[in-house]
Formats: sequence, structure tokens, C-alpha cells
Amino acid sequence: MKVKVLLLGSESECQRLRIYLRDDEISVVGIVSDENRVLEEISKTAADLILVTNTSPMSLRACQQIYLLRPRSVPVVLTQENDLDALQKIIETGVHYILPAQMEPAALISELKGIFTNEVNRILSLENSSASPSKSKVVLVFGTKGGIGKSTVAVNLAVKLAQRQNRVVILDYSFQFGCVGTMLGLSNRSTISELVQEQVSPNADLTRQFLALHSSGVSALLAPNSPEDGAAITARQAEQIISVLRVYYDYIIIDSAPVLNDITTVCLDCASVIVFITKCDIASLRNAKKGLAIVEALADSEKIKLVVCDDLNGQIRESDIARVLSRPIWQVIPHDYRAATEAVNLGKPVVESYPMSKLSKGLEQLALKIDGGNLMDLKGAKKNSLIYKYKRR
Ligand SMILES: Nc1ncnc2c1ncn2[C@@H]1O[C@H](COP(=O)(O)OP(=O)(O)OP(=O)(O)O)[C@@H](O)[C@H]1O
Ligand SMILES: [Mg+2]
Repeated sequence: MKVKVLLLGSESECQRLRIYLRDDEISVVGIVSDENRVLEEISKTAADLILVTNTSPMSLRACQQIYLLRPRSVPVVLTQENDLDALQKIIETGVHYILPAQMEPAALISELKGIFTNEVNRILSLENSSASPSKSKVVLVFGTKGGIGKSTVAVNLAVKLAQRQNRVVILDYSFQFGCVGTMLGLSNRSTISELVQEQVSPNADLTRQFLALHSSGVSALLAPNSPEDGAAITARQAEQIISVLRVYYDYIIIDSAPVLNDITTVCLDCASVIVFITKCDIASLRNAKKGLAIVEALADSEKIKLVVCDDLNGQIRESDIARVLSRPIWQVIPHDYRAATEAVNLGKPVVESYPMSKLSKGLEQLALKIDGGNLMDLKGAKKNSLIYKYKRR
């Protein structure tokens, strides 16, 4: 089995390294010169090591993203820096391996093989420990239209997953007009806004202090009280909060706003499952088609699960929707105006206030599918992982 290496840096430097790295046990799986594309390339190639050939701010940002979002791929930085401050900046991104830029090819190959072996062992022990971040699943509830049931699904999914003995946190990333607090009947005293004001780069302990606790056991990071405060939260902070909470929760449910911006992009990157919501009238389906095309360009297609929050009546059939959107419907959540509205008015999720309603039944089936461990994407991801290959050696 070969160690898969992805090269990140200028085309000329990467081509030079590609020649250097000719070895029976090493395979250069690609070259990335645009740092914004590195996560996508890692997903495509399942690279074990990312050899980073410069330390520009963009490259260091890419290293941090790899560390947070692709923890099974390991960045290795080549640098001529000897200055302590410069090295410190590299280490702060989560990089553990820094090598001198001018190494003999044989020495570089030997270092890369050594790093790979170390990392396989580290990931093996992480997988065997209870604090393994890989156990946690990030479920993004998204849709490109307002008022279609995203928050209803996100909140009730969180409660249902908690009822199944999972540790669950819901993040209200609809920063301007989020309503998770209202739906759960929680007061918005501490929100994400106060969290990032307290610490620009929130760590796990502080983030947990800003979570509100619902009686179902679900923890919630609520949206700011004033819409203008939402604009101050950066994509980097949104991403960091997800990463630090992964160690503590089995499920991180993200409720999102119907917009495609940098916050949505990091959520799509982090997500293990993307619950894509639509209604089934023509306007919603047209909108969903456009939205899905963009989501598919940004995320693995297998992660995307189409959920229709509407009654399928005679006019538009399930097969019509699947044809128009080029993917099967994963789950239908029936329309139930009375149960949905009264639940919001009570501040009590519908799966608790009207557990026997058809709406609750649909939500329960959705939770079962997500918690049943029957997701192709998770199986696929595992097959491509470093650890899987190691175990098969
Ligand atoms: N399955 C359903 N049947 C009937 N009404 C529903 C259903 N799901 C949600 N609703 C109602 O539709 C309204 C919008 O729901 P919700 O807030 O969940 O949508 P959203 O997509 O999150 O909206 P936004 O884009 O504004 O965040 C609410 O009044 C809710 O009670
Ligand atoms: Mg909403």
C-alpha cells in the first residue's frame, strides 16, 4: 500500500517535488495551487499527507482548515524559517510536522514514511478512545428558501436524537433571525454573540458555558438577540465552534439561514450529513434545483439527503420531484399546520407536545434514519480513511 501525498504550493515547486518523491511506497495524488481548493481535493483523493511548500497566510489558513476539518489527512510544512515567531505561527494552525525546505529526496521520503506510520498509530488510539472526535456527526439542516420548515426539522431532530440517548447540541447559525430559542422555549440570555465577544477564538470550555440546556437534554447555542450582531460572527469562528464541540457531542445539529455565504460554506464542509429541505410547489422546486446544484458543487453528493416538508398530493408525485431534482426523496415530513403552529406557540417541540401527530411521526423516521448508522457516506468515508487502509495491510 502506498502513502498518498497531496502537494500544496506553486505549480513549479510542486512539480519539482513530484520528481523528488518517486518511490515505490509513495504516490503523489495531486497538486493544488489554489488553497481554497485543498479541502475538496483531500475529499477527492483521500490523501494521507499534505505536503505544504510555503508558509503564506493563505497556506497557513489551509493548514488550519485541514487540521480542523480533515483530521485524517496530515499537513507537513516545508519551510526555511528558523525564526521562533514564524515557527510558532505555523504550529498555531495545528501543524505538527515542520521540515527544512532543502532536504535530500531520500531523507524527505524517509521522513514522510515515518510521519505516516506515527499518524496511523495516533489515529488508531484516538479511534479506540471514548473521546474520539470521529464519533461525532455534524448534521446541517439547510434549504435555499425561507419558511419551509428547516428550524422545525432541526429542533425536533435534535430532541428525537437526545431521546435516543445521544449527546446532542444544536447550533442556531441563522444569525439574524434564528428561532431555535423560541421553539425550545429557552431564554436568549447567552448567545453566540456574547460568546465571540468574550473570546475571539472560542475554546471548548468557554463555548459550553454559553450553551442553554433544554429539558430533553439538548444543549443549544442560540442566535444573537439583535440581527445586526449576527454580522460580527465570522466563518472562522463558526467553524471553530463546531470543531471544539465535536469532542463532547454525538450529534451537532446546525440550523441554518437560507443563504449561500461563507458561513454556509464552512458548515457544508464540516457536515457529515446535509439535510436539504424543500417544499413541493413549483416555485420551491425550481429554487431547490438551483440551490442543490451549488451545494453539490461544494459538498460530497452522497452526504446530501433530500427531505420534502410537504404533503405529496396527487398533483406532484414523488417520482416527479426525484426527476426534477435528480435525486431520490430520503424522507417526507407531512404538512401539519395545527401541530406545528401550536408547538411554536407553546415553546415546546412538536415531538414532545404532539408526539402522535403525523408531523412527529415523520420527524421520528428522519431521526431513525440518521441515527441508524445506515448512511452510505459514513461507510464510504471510513473506507477511504488512513486507519481503514492500515487495518487491511
Ligand atoms: N411540516 C409542517 N407543517 C405545517 N407547518 C409547518 C411545518 N413545518 C414548519 N411549519 C411552520 O412553518 C413556519 C416556518 O417554519 P420554520 O421556521 O421551521 O421554517 P424555516 O425554513 O426555518 O424558516 P426560515 O427560513 O425563516 O428560518 C412555522 O410557522 C412552522 O410552524
Ligand atoms: Mg429557520
